[in-house]
Amino acid sequence: MKILLFGSNGQLGSELQRTLMTLGEVAPFDIHNLNLENTQDVREIIRSVRADIIVNASAYTAVDRAESEADKAFTVNGDIPGLFAEEASKLNAFLIHYSTDYVFDGTKGMLYLEDDETIPLSVYGKSKLAGERAIKAQDVNYLILRTSWVYSMSRSSFVTKVLEWARKQEILSVVSDQVSNPTWARTLADVTAQLLSKGIDCLSEHRGLYHVAGNGFASRLDWAKKIIELDPNKQEQRVREIVPAVTSDFPTPAQRPLFSALDCSLFQSTFDIRLPTWEEALRQAMAE
Ligand SMILES: NC(=O)c1ccc[n+]([C@@H]2O[C@H](COP(=O)([O-])OP(=O)(O)OC[C@H]3O[C@@H](n4cnc5c(N)ncnc54)[C@H](OP(=O)(O)O)[C@@H]3O)[C@@H](O)[C@H]2O)c1
Repeated sequence: MKILLFGSNGQLGSELQRTLMTLGEVAPFDIHNLNLENTQDVREIIRSVRADIIVNASAYTAVDRAESEADKAFTVNGDIPGLFAEEASKLNAFLIHYSTDYVFDGTKGMLYLEDDETIPLSVYGKSKLAGERAIKAQDVNYLILRTSWVYSMSRSSFVTKVLEWARKQEILSVVSDQVSNPTWARTLADVTAQLLSKGIDCLSEHRGLYHVAGNGFASRLDWAKKIIELDPNKQEQRVREIVPAVTSDFPTPAQRPLFSALDCSLFQSTFDIRLPTWEEALRQAMAE
């Protein structure tokens, strides 16, 4: 099996590069060897590799910067997934793509289901929704996995930042009104490999969009407290107190949904794959 992986140097992509190797020959591409904005090059690579599976872990993920770089965000997050779908369809390849909880406005007050109304609040969210729609518009076999609050221990992430702040500050102020599912990039990569190992026929039968994230949900404050509690090098911490804040205390260019936690039960029952709770995954990640 040949797998073409885009975004191979990102949080998720770097984990996928490692995990997918056990399933087939992986051709990894990242911005250093292929800028996705060069669409002709992208098409040529897809046509020359002729992969069975295209996995798109690339994305423009700078949520605040996207507010002033909308064209770039819409190209990478909106147009390029459509191009992948178009080329995958011609090759009869399977496309795996990731999307975000930021397609929701966070006002539902309950876990979000796959067919809930999408009302993105930010350019990033709108551009990712455009990507979902561009894939669905093609006659292609695909899975779109909507995920949330992705972190990795080897790239800059909320987890690595909290660990850093805890070593510099005595008091940490963290928002308690943003709630979602913290998701370890490695879990997402492992789950993707488990999916692929089920075979393309099974995936094609269940093609579509699913929510896949750490089970359960947490506020950023709960998450930060758990990170600090599980820190294996606690003796290095200076932090004495973690105090709740509200989103309006930290104005940002992009508006974020407040409660955007995803209900992942459809994915788990369809594919018979268990998603670990966000605490289980964090414990494992922190022990690395
Ligand atoms: N991070 C989150 O909290 C989060 C939450 C929900 C959903 N997601 C989704 O999950 C997926 C994986 O996210 P992630 O956290 O792994 O993102 P990430 O760490 O930012 O990785 C994305 C990768 O795409 C690359 N990329 C961006 N623009 C490119 C371009 N023009 N050409 C080639 N490569 C380009 C980036 O390169 P550079 O690093 O050089 O820019 C980066 O290596 C994405 O679909 C994302 O939207 C993420």
